[in-house]
Amino acid sequence: MTTLITGGTVVSAEGSALQDVLIDGDTIVAVLAPGSNALSEVRRSAGIVIDASRKYVIPGGIDAHTHMEMPFGGTFASDTFETGTRAAAWGGTTTIVDFVVQAHGQRVQDQLAAWHDKASGNCAVDYAFHQIIGDVNADSLKAMDELIDEGITSFKLFMAYPGVFLSSDGQILQAMQKAAGNGSLIMMHAENGSAIDVLVQQALERGDTAPYFHGTTRPWQTEQEATHRAVMLADIAGAPLYIVHVSAKQALARIAEARNAGQNVFGETCPQYLYLSLEENLGAPGFEGAKWVCSTPLRSRAEGHQDELWRYLRTGDVTTVSTDHCPFCMKDQKELGIGNFAKIPNGIGSVEHRMDLLYQGVVDGRISLQKWVDVACAAPARMFGLYGKKGVIAAGADADIVIYDPNGHTSIGLGKTHHMNMDYSAWEGYEIDGHVDTVLSRGKVIVDAGQYLGAKSDGRFVRRGLSQNLI
Ligand code: URP
Ligand code: ZN
Ligand code: ZN
Repeated sequence: MTTLITGGTVVSAEGSALQDVLIDGDTIVAVLAPGSNALSEVRRSAGIVIDASRKYVIPGGIDAHTHMEMPFGGTFASDTFETGTRAAAWGGTTTIVDFVVQAHGQRVQDQLAAWHDKASGNCAVDYAFHQIIGDVNADSLKAMDELIDEGITSFKLFMAYPGVFLSSDGQILQAMQKAAGNGSLIMMHAENGSAIDVLVQQALERGDTAPYFHGTTRPWQTEQEATHRAVMLADIAGAPLYIVHVSAKQALARIAEARNAGQNVFGETCPQYLYLSLEENLGAPGFEGAKWVCSTPLRSRAEGHQDELWRYLRTGDVTTVSTDHCPFCMKDQKELGIGNFAKIPNGIGSVEHRMDLLYQGVVDGRISLQKWVDVACAAPARMFGLYGKKGVIAAGADADIVIYDPNGHTSIGLGKTHHMNMDYSAWEGYEIDGHVDTVLSRGKVIVDAGQYLGAKSDGRFVRRGLSQNLI
């Protein structure tokens, strides 16, 4: 089946132009100047013609940081691969990269098999995996080599969560040396977990048990210190380093410094750190703030972190914007932490809203149209070995395409206007001056005019190559 998307403005990370996109089956076969004879040929062959006049035609979004069904804090992230990837599709994200979890005492290969079982046949859009190494030992270091052949080329380590995921500096160095040798990428959760545990204990003893204190017990110094340590260890090992979910401007300053010095260090942030804050969200009355408990935490607006993060997006020191989608319902999940913020499962759900929330940055004059496509689509593809097939509208690429209406509107309103499996929205009340109209995943229209047309088995596992983003 041939499909022609005609009349739209194709936006890439480099620029934008009025162009038609010709698709054969699941692949883009040509990007054409308007007025070519493709339109009449597609009509003659009874193919599909999609009118994208006055709309943007962009590569499908890539959310390189999600946690579907993740076990955390005695419960599981509330989106399954089925519900989470369907919500992603609604929001114009056509590829997710989710994290396989290896905790202490578990075998990497067993965990990977379990994640394949959970995802296979259940995903609305394509998916790939990173591997969390929560127990660095001879067996998991060997697995880091083996997984590359299975298309898993990035490994997340933790400097936080002692006793669960935290690796010692020695273990981190060993994993980084392995990555330096096999060409894979270390992703780091950079927070000083031991110091945080002391601050948390002291706060609870003082009776500071509300969600707000999740933020104050994880001060920016704990993020900057860990970021600095990770950068130094990566330098010793000669390994590339990608710091996930950066929220502190001081941590980003350290990342920028390393980049200026020529080190392969990359920063990821998330919409919650660009828009939300310690004061307005974590500090909401009563137990409301639990909705926004995530780590790293939301930062103080008075200290100016959010504006600095937007600035670092413009300079390129923030390479990608992912969601860290890790949703929990208020009922029975976030509520586990009533009377003790440390028991609130950490995570926010945003997989459906990332493309819209970032587009609002274009409307507000914070980033360019090209930057939007870069940080949401092209850069994650380059960073995680997907580029060429994903993240770009070009001949040979998968036909993962979003038709975005800049004159449309998206209300993330009160009540359940989203499709994520959550009983609240962290984004309630947000108004976006744009709208995801049509979504194609490998050539199939899966969302159009407010209707979901896909199926839970549309998405396929994507084997990734090595990062294409290194100096
Ligand atoms: O709060 C968060 N970020 N939850 C998900 C787990 C992680 O550390 O990414
Ligand atoms: Zn993390
Ligand atoms: Zn995460």
